[in-house]
Amino acid sequence: MARVAVVTGGTRGIGEAISVALKAAGYIVAANYAGNDERAKEFSARTGIAVFKFDVSDFEACKAGIEKVTAELGPVDVLINNAGITRDGVMHRMTYQQWEEVIHTNLSSCFNMCRNVIDGMRERGFGRIVNIGSVNGQAGQYGQVNYAAAKSGIHGFTKALAQESAAKGITVNAIAPGYIDTDMVRAVPAHVLEKIVARIPVGRLGRADEIAKAVLYLVDDENGFMTGSTLSVNGGQHMY
Ligand code: CAA
Repeated sequence: MARVAVVTGGTRGIGEAISVALKAAGYIVAANYAGNDERAKEFSARTGIAVFKFDVSDFEACKAGIEKVTAELGPVDVLINNAGITRDGVMHRMTYQQWEEVIHTNLSSCFNMCRNVIDGMRERGFGRIVNIGSVNGQAGQYGQVNYAAAKSGIHGFTKALAQESAAKGITVNAIAPGYIDTDMVRAVPAHVLEKIVARIPVGRLGRADEIAKAVLYLVDDENGFMTGSTLSVNGGQHMY
């Protein structure tokens, strides 16, 4: 039986590449999205992947979302916590709202989603959870105290949940992407992005499919011994 995989923020950017790669590898994929209906509709028509609209920063919405996926596709064996936003700005100009939105969407979402799949995974004795962190959670970044804190939190979250879940056949790992060619990175001011790319040893932005490949490796049924790890996929920008 094909396994059911949920990808948050799964219709655009890195999430889109992950959804498509999982489907191609034989998973039944549920791509979550928050707001962009038009893009989600286009994505679903193009890929044949089912889309589910709910806000990952809202615990009750995640509960209802997972219930809907389970009813329509089956129990969730694979969860990719990918949804994330930026609200960049230096600390001395950052508002509480910029802080709160990023923490809830990027970090609380991991709790909201994991809490709603973990019981089923424990009962079935199998699960694969991959949390998408960031090089900026490992190294920090100018203008991103909110994002760096959330992403860094994801790495701690991953290691703690991995310890709790190991004996139940559930692996929990993180990927720390570097600067990937997506809408999010293209929104960085050009003069800043130039400086960043100049510091990437591979000499270019990453591609979303390069992150998807790492996800496929981590979720493999046969890959049960790797847990609590962070895979850095960043063109050599930061060697952790
Ligand atoms: N690396 C190097 N230099 C940087 C920098 C960075 N990441 N961010 C800002 N600077 C430099 C700028 O080039 C500028 O220097 P100069 O005056 O010499 O040109 C100086 O810092 C001030 O920057 P701004 O003129 O842009 O100042 P601002 O107050 O108008 O804006 C900012 C500040 C909002 C932080 C803006 O610089 C910015 O958006 N920076 C990008 C932050 C960033 O890297 N975000 C990553 C988004 S993608 C992502 O997060 C995905 C992921 O996981 C990797």
